[in-house]
Amino acid sequence: MTQGELQATMHALVQKGKGILAADESGPTIAKRFKTINVESTEENRRAWRSLLLTTPGLGEFVSGVILHEETLGQATDDGTPLPQCAARQGIVAGIKVDAGKIPLAGAPGDEITQGLDGLAGRLAAYQRQGARFAKWRAVYNVSDTLPSRLALEANAEALARYAAICQEQGIVPIVEPEVLIDGDHTMARCAEVTEAALHEVFHALHRHRVVLEHMLLKPSMVVPGKTHAHQAAPAEVAVQTVRILRRTVPAAVPSINFLSGGQTPEEATANLDAMNLLGPQPWQLSFSYGRALQEPALQAWKGQAAHARSSQDALLKRARLNGAACRGRYSAAMEAAD
Ligand code: 13P
Repeated sequence: MTQGELQATMHALVQKGKGILAADESGPTIAKRFKTINVESTEENRRAWRSLLLTTPGLGEFVSGVILHEETLGQATDDGTPLPQCAARQGIVAGIKVDAGKIPLAGAPGDEITQGLDGLAGRLAAYQRQGARFAKWRAVYNVSDTLPSRLALEANAEALARYAAICQEQGIVPIVEPEVLIDGDHTMARCAEVTEAALHEVFHALHRHRVVLEHMLLKPSMVVPGKTHAHQAAPAEVAVQTVRILRRTVPAAVPSINFLSGGQTPEEATANLDAMNLLGPQPWQLSFSYGRALQEPALQAWKGQAAHARSSQDALLKRARLNGAACRGRYSAAMEAAD
């Protein structure tokens, strides 16, 4: 039964030309995003914003899943439709962020560890009753000449694997998200080195914890230079370096890799994904699970005003459509100006 449920969710999530919308910002993060448009982060404003996203007409053509925050699972639109149901009506599977955020890793100055394993099975059962079919857990790796330490690589991999095993036992598909942060002035080579080490460790741990690779998604960061590094990389370069590291570390049994955008601009995130898909067939599908890169233009168009809902939804749909094209290697910069 559980295997059948997991398979059905995978089938719904992994579709050619579609990806995932990450709308699961934590309290502090959504407050930071709203601040850029001078909107206060109240429960009502968060409900309005996420209702707008989930009721975007046509979104289901390019988006197969949406990651929600716990609060959103229990919210409804003005007409009383539960938000997970809005997603379902468009053929979009609802998922839930289940980690409880990061804290400093004791014994490893500068490194962080994600918490939230205690009581996870019970919480998953409740989320499932509210309509969630998949989950997300994010581990972060700060990069410097010495970070992340071996301890951080091992501890975060162990937590990701324990989370994924608990999810699968509950019939929930886990998204495993190891994010190598873009912050800093490190080189692209350093990002590649850290990403390779992190992914090796994660897949070792997934194996130890008997996670079924066919029933999970990987959500990694791309291999890029640090944000403040002097030389920024072109999409073709990002694509070659990222795919090289993924081919070394991610088993072919994983059906799909859905990247996070991690601070790239919307256009960069789309162009980089497109460039990867232009490299030709890979063992896994290469798609998106973007938060900022899908939402930013829509948020700027909205500015907290109901009257701007339509243009905001148009902006979201445009990014979804262009990323859908990038999943097929059919995006071009000219498409940005087309509408
Ligand atoms: P970004 O695409 O904005 O990095 O968000 C994706 C996400 O879910 C981070 O956990």
